[in-house]
Amino acid sequence: MHCGTLVLFISLYLTLVGLCEPLDNGLARTPPMGWIAWERFKCTTDCKLYPDNCISERLFRAMADKLVEDGWKDLGYQYVNIDDCWSAMVRDINGKLQPDPDRFPSGIKGLAEYVHFKGLKLGIYGDLGHSTCGGYLGTLLETVDLDARTFAEWEVDMLKLDGCNSNSTERSIGYPKMSYALNATGRPIVYSCSWPAYEDGLLPKLMVGNFGLNQDQSKAQLAIWAILAAPFFMSNDLRTISDDAKALLQNKLLIYIDQDKLGQQGVRIKKDEDFQLWKRKLAHGQFALAYLNTAERGGAKSFSLSLPPLGIKDCAHGYNVYDVFDKKLVSFLNSNHTHSFRVNPRSVVLFFIRPVC
Ligand SMILES: *[C@@H]1O[C@H](CO)[C@@H](O)[C@H](O)[C@H]1NC(C)=O
Ligand SMILES: *[C@@H]1O[C@H](CO)[C@@H](O)[C@H](O)[C@H]1NC(C)=O
Repeated sequence: MHCGTLVLFISLYLTLVGLCEPLDNGLARTPPMGWIAWERFKCTTDCKLYPDNCISERLFRAMADKLVEDGWKDLGYQYVNIDDCWSAMVRDINGKLQPDPDRFPSGIKGLAEYVHFKGLKLGIYGDLGHSTCGGYLGTLLETVDLDARTFAEWEVDMLKLDGCNSNSTERSIGYPKMSYALNATGRPIVYSCSWPAYEDGLLPKLMVGNFGLNQDQSKAQLAIWAILAAPFFMSNDLRTISDDAKALLQNKLLIYIDQDKLGQQGVRIKKDEDFQLWKRKLAHGQFALAYLNTAERGGAKSFSLSLPPLGIKDCAHGYNVYDVFDKKLVSFLNSNHTHSFRVNPRSVVLFFIRPVC
């Protein structure tokens, strides 16, 4: 599978996969941010043919370098996540998972050292089942403890555990078991798991964007993810990302909303045939509002924003209203004012509302 390097698109993979954390280990209090290989690089393993794009330590080092050089890390994108197809086809003589020796000559531990040296964190992929979705080594119920210890030994910081090739009984035992096994290692490891979402068949639709996403569609998706306090994981090629895509993903106010300290997920408060309004309550009396025009075509839709009907109480000195993607203060509102604006088809206007009082 070849992912062309010259194609300019954002391939955003913002996972909505739940973070299973029955244990309060102080991790992931705000949605984790980083980069994950899958949507862009899939299971490309032929490093002779595709030396720059195959799943190998070289690729992850290159992305770690870019995360630091291009300012991503400073904005909070700190995880470099390996996805499927990293392992060898057999376990080692001690029954442990091992990476493909040709593609990961330094081992996962060596890669973790490199990533840590850059001030970043390393995520790895596992699958509860007899093999991964891509046909690589899976984690059986009997190897959950050993595999957790192996990940900890390698100094991994996050685990995404898929559920291909297991049945629902095995998953209902295995997912909590992995959570306890990770905790027992003593190493803080964020556990991102797809259970019980897996049982609802939600997973196949969780990837967004990908090929040919235009700027308006990208904005719409990012706005909703920020409102939902969803993890921000990009899956793109940081070596060739377009300036437009980069500007969107590096929008500080957008990231601020996603990472809000109150940690409350926003909700959809209105839905018409081709319009949705989403609201998220933020810390310090602040709010985010997303006006989403879901129409496929037609002209821009006109709206007028007035705060009291939205349950935003008039603070004595009113509210400043910022357009997040335009990066500007667009209005000052108290209970007597409205702000008029338009939203393109399949686009969004995201407001950040801050009390002046
Ligand atoms: C393990 O769980 C306990 C209890 O929730 C928690 O206090 C501790 O921080 C956890 N340790 C790790 C390494 O996750
Ligand atoms: C799930 O798989 C196990 C074998 O690993 C089997 O014993 C069990 O009956 C299966 N359960 C279901 C619900 O298919």
